[in-house]
Amino acid sequence: MKDTVISVGILGATGYTGLELVKRLRRHRHVRIVFAHSDSHAGARLCDVLPCEFDIPLVSADNAPFSAADVVFSCLPHGASAALVCRALETGCRVVDLSADFRLRDPQTYARWYGHPHPAPDLLGQAVYGLPERYRHAIVDARLVANPGCYPTSVILGLLPLIEADALADTVIIADSKSGVSGAGRKPSQTTHFVEVNENLSPYNVGHAHRHVPEMEQEINAVHHAGYRVLFTPHLLPISRGMLSTLYVRLKPHAQSVNWQHAYATRYAGEPFVRVLPAGHVSTIAHAAHTNFAVLSLHSVAELTDRLLIVSCIDNLVKGASGQAIQNMNLMFGLDECEGLQ
Ligand SMILES: NC(=O)c1ccc[n+]([C@@H]2O[C@H](COP(=O)([O-])OP(=O)(O)OC[C@H]3O[C@@H](n4cnc5c(N)ncnc54)[C@H](OP(=O)(O)O)[C@@H]3O)[C@@H](O)[C@H]2O)c1
Repeated sequence: MKDTVISVGILGATGYTGLELVKRLRRHRHVRIVFAHSDSHAGARLCDVLPCEFDIPLVSADNAPFSAADVVFSCLPHGASAALVCRALETGCRVVDLSADFRLRDPQTYARWYGHPHPAPDLLGQAVYGLPERYRHAIVDARLVANPGCYPTSVILGLLPLIEADALADTVIIADSKSGVSGAGRKPSQTTHFVEVNENLSPYNVGHAHRHVPEMEQEINAVHHAGYRVLFTPHLLPISRGMLSTLYVRLKPHAQSVNWQHAYATRYAGEPFVRVLPAGHVSTIAHAAHTNFAVLSLHSVAELTDRLLIVSCIDNLVKGASGQAIQNMNLMFGLDECEGLQ
């Protein structure tokens, strides 16, 4: 392991998640970047295109040397990602796809939520959902890892100990989430325009309309097939990065006497990137920003309700994207899971 060097290619290196990957991979002791891709800026260097120090040439997809890479990260938009993921796999690379193209196991569900047929349904069977806290053993052997979405990462990690214990009384789980603007990617739009975002807080895709809903429901129901639905309202926060989800759940009678603070701490004790704050502390975005940690806090309001509240914070670009992708790569290549992430 000491001398292992993994050759890495990055598709979509000029995006927010691509740049975050480059930053972290450059200080990873077992990685050599063999190509960084951008079709719009092919021929330029990354430091010419973005305010960064990385003198890395950008290549078009047609000229990307896939055969020189052991693993390819795709930081492309969903829809565009699948074709190049197929090409990387055909060349013999292993792939971590940060897009949504391989997260949903059912191609019909994908078509319904993403508005077009799945571009490579035959590959769905071999994709492993890249949440190490749940699928660590399968990730180790995977050729194709579907890196989770940012909102699903914060919501699923916040719920997992309760779901695994079959502790929820309602099939409807309330998740109220807030994200920094980098969650929407670099391409500007009216909703991410400074004037729209600054000094504002905007709910969007209210209720059950965001594309991350089927992903959350797929993964939560994969544990017990209980038919859970997630009432999910995301909000856009006037900050660059970071994500906070507040989860409201009702407990079954047998679960109401459980010390959930202790149960969460026990469930995540061996996890290098989940922190459960001590009782009485509240997780905030500042606890998780610029780190690969999910930071959780638990809150009961026993005088009012049997509901338990969980606050789950991550950095959308790190544990919600590129950090988790590196964590997955480390697992796939038998490296220290924390390498490049601390
Ligand atoms: N942002 C987040 O917090 C986050 C979190 C989790 C997952 N994700 C997912 O990760 C992926 C990348 O997100 P991002 O925020 O980094 O996006 P982004 O900032 O918009 O960057 C997109 C990248 O893809 C390239 N690109 C765009 N359209 C393309 C096309 N049709 N064909 C080939 N290349 C194309 C762009 O390159 P050029 O413009 O230079 O050509 C750029 O490098 C997305 O699928 C996103 O859903 C994002």
